[in-house]
Parts: sequence; C-alpha cells; structure tokens
Amino acid sequence: MSNVLVLHSSAGGATSVTRLLTADAITEIRRRDPAARIVERDLAADPPPHLSPEGMAGVRTPNATTPAEIAARDLSDALIAELRDADTIVIGAPMYNFGLPSTLKAWFDHVLRAGVTFRYSEAGPEGLLKGKKVIVIEARGGLYSEGPAQAIDFQEPYLRQLLGFIGLTDVTFVRAEKIGFGPDAREAAIAGARAELSQLALPLAA
Ligand SMILES: Cc1cc2nc3c(=O)[nH]c(=O)nc-3n(C[C@H](O)[C@H](O)[C@H](O)COP(=O)(O)O)c2cc1C
Repeated sequence: MSNVLVLHSSAGGATSVTRLLTADAITEIRRRDPAARIVERDLAADPPPHLSPEGMAGVRTPNATTPAEIAARDLSDALIAELRDADTIVIGAPMYNFGLPSTLKAWFDHVLRAGVTFRYSEAGPEGLLKGKKVIVIEARGGLYSEGPAQAIDFQEPYLRQLLGFIGLTDVTFVRAEKIGFGPDAREAAIAGARAELSQLALPLAA
C-alpha cells in the first residue's frame, strides 16, 4: 500500500490550475493503487503560521517550554510526521511573485529542522529523509522553463534546494506554464501537464 502526502498551496480556489492537476494525480494514484493512503494538507485553507519569536523557539531550539513554543513544536512534529509517513509526496505549487506561496514557505520553515530532517556533519549538511519520491506540480502565468525568464525562476530551483536539503532528491517537476497567455494557452498547458502526469512512473502498485 502506498502512503501519499498531497500538499495544496494555491489560494486560487475553484480556478486553480495546480488544484486541478493535483486532483488528477490523486485520481491516477487511486486508479493504480486503490488501497493507497492519501493525506491531503491544504496550506492555503489552513496555513502554518509565519515564524514568530515563540514559533522560532519552539521549532528551532531543543526545549519548547511556553505554551506558544510547545504549540509550534507540536505543529512542526505533526508536519514532519506526515512527511515521514509518506513514500510519495505531491506538491501543488503555483508561482507567486517569482517564487513560492508564503504558505508553502511557512510549511518548509516548519519541516526543515536540524537534527530531525537534516543534520550538519563534518562533510556538510545531510538530508535525513530518504527513499521518497516527490512530484511538484507547478503553474505559472509566464514561461520560465526556457527563454529569457529562466533567470528569474526563483520557484523551481528554490524548491529543488529545499527538498534536496532534507534528502528529497528524487523530484519530478510537472509544469503548466503560460497560464496567463489566454484561454488557448491555458488549456494547452493543462493538457500537456495532464499528459505528463499520466506518463509518470509513480512508485505505486500497478
Ligand atoms: C499573487 C500572485 C502572484 C503571481 N506571480 C506570478 C509570477 O511572478 N510569475 C508568473 O508567471 N505568474 C504569476 N502569477 C500567476 C500564477 O502563477 C498562475 O495564475 C498560476 O496558475 C497560479 O496557480 P493556481 O492556478 O494553482 O492558483 C501570480 C498569481 C498570483 C495570484
């Protein structure tokens, strides 16, 4: 049985391209593995808080003592447990202002934890989450995978770095680009991403 964690981060509601595509991915996973355990976390509807002084103390220091620190630590523990339990992680990631939605960044702020999901050694940082497959479904208004805007794509390289830092190095990016170039371009981008998703060798029971 597969364990799948799906993160949604679009604030776009019913018009969201990434939500359409993550729904497709879930359908495909269920088709391949009807017994799959799928946990969905909606970071737009239920955002992890930005790190406050209490949150920082709870998440980043060994001892959480005040109620606010303990609440932050508990949330971090819960988010990391979801991640650890999953063998496949699907992330719906719209491009907002050339990077990530702040809700998705806040999620990373809670799951990148020294001594828990990564550690520093004499050889440098080491990611501690191993053997997981990640599928990132990106939607962008413009075109960044080729052409002059490649240099201002602060979404995909950043996501690759964040994931790799905690050991998640098997990452496939599925992109729906040129969403803002009119209805035809939008439909073509969605169709292209759907075709890519259906071809993915998801590590799930056939
Ligand atoms: C707040 C906001 C910021 C955006 N910033 C960018 C951007 O920097 N570059 C870009 O190409 N598209 C940008 N877009 C367009 C979105 O990436 C595009 O609409 C995408 O489909 C959003 O994903 P979603 O449909 O899943 O919500 C932005 C959209 C919003 C709402």
